Amino acid sequence: MDKEHVFFENYARNWDRDRKADKALLSRFVTLSGIVSGAAVLDAGCGTGVFLPYLSDAVGSSGSVEGMDYSAQMIDVAKEKFSPLANVSFTTGDVLKYHLPQKHYDAIACLNFYPHIAAHSRDVIRRFYEALKDGGTLLIMHDMPRRAVNAIHGGTPVLPPVDVLEEKLISAGFSVVIAMDTDECYFLRVVKGASPDDFVYDEDEEAPAVPLSGKLQHPHVHTETKRVLNRLSRITGHVEAIKRMIEDGRDCSDVLVQLAAVHSAVAGVSRVILKDHIDHCIVDAIREHDEEAVENLKKAINTFVK
Ligand SMILES: C[S@@+](CC[C@H](N)C(=O)[O-])C[C@H]1O[C@@H](n2cnc3c(N)ncnc32)[C@H](O)[C@@H]1O
Repeated sequence: MDKEHVFFENYARNWDRDRKADKALLSRFVTLSGIVSGAAVLDAGCGTGVFLPYLSDAVGSSGSVEGMDYSAQMIDVAKEKFSPLANVSFTTGDVLKYHLPQKHYDAIACLNFYPHIAAHSRDVIRRFYEALKDGGTLLIMHDMPRRAVNAIHGGTPVLPPVDVLEEKLISAGFSVVIAMDTDECYFLRVVKGASPDDFVYDEDEEAPAVPLSGKLQHPHVHTETKRVLNRLSRITGHVEAIKRMIEDGRDCSDVLVQLAAVHSAVAGVSRVILKDHIDHCIVDAIREHDEEAVENLKKAINTFVK
């Protein structure tokens, strides 16, 4: 048993005393997760099971939730609290070694867990990928901001900025649906494989030069296509999550916070496209005396700044 494992064994009985769980935020995580009734979910590094009742509720009696932790003490506490939940089971196991069933889970939830596997992230991400059904969801969540997580770990950047982790997950074959790295929390929802609307690239692969509109006025190359497409698929997922919040009758103020996030994400992607357009299209157009292209840019800027 390594030092960290011993630490969690010894801490298990006092974990809930010190663990401040924000119930509203954990409920919001479930809404944003897209987990539906009937789903089979793994709560990896479940500890004393703080997230288990939320997941149990989301999957309902036709679904199942498996809490897994390598600390036998943590699992004992979780069992004492949540054995009565009929759709919840418990496994003492190390995610680095345990033989996870292949293509089995609809979702794998990692709440405050990523820093503990960060050193082996490539291996664990591959294991989770294989354990998920096609289209299954992987959730990396922290109910505190990234800087607080890294401060707890002595300032070691165990939790990277969300776009860094996104790239890692994309290169493992996931598509990003929602990514939030805010003053309140860190939330990443990715799905195994790509939906028809998504584009997945290898980390080292050059982004292809794809025209964003089918009609090209003049031949030109967009270098930011990969970034633009990733951001747009995140925005799509985010809007879908907001639709579900409204269907679930969630608080208007929560919905408005999410809509404001989408608003700024759309503005961000517009800026990237505008910059790419100026850098790679307008420069060529001026060189080639293409006055129509310059006129079109003026119109686009006018619309954008309105
Ligand atoms: C920070 S705690 C989070 C517990 C719980 N998810 C929560 O949010 O309260 C991390 C948990 O991961 C478990 N853990 C660490 N490394 C693990 C591994 N390789 N396999 C399974 N569990 C692990 C620890 O025992 C601990 O319970």
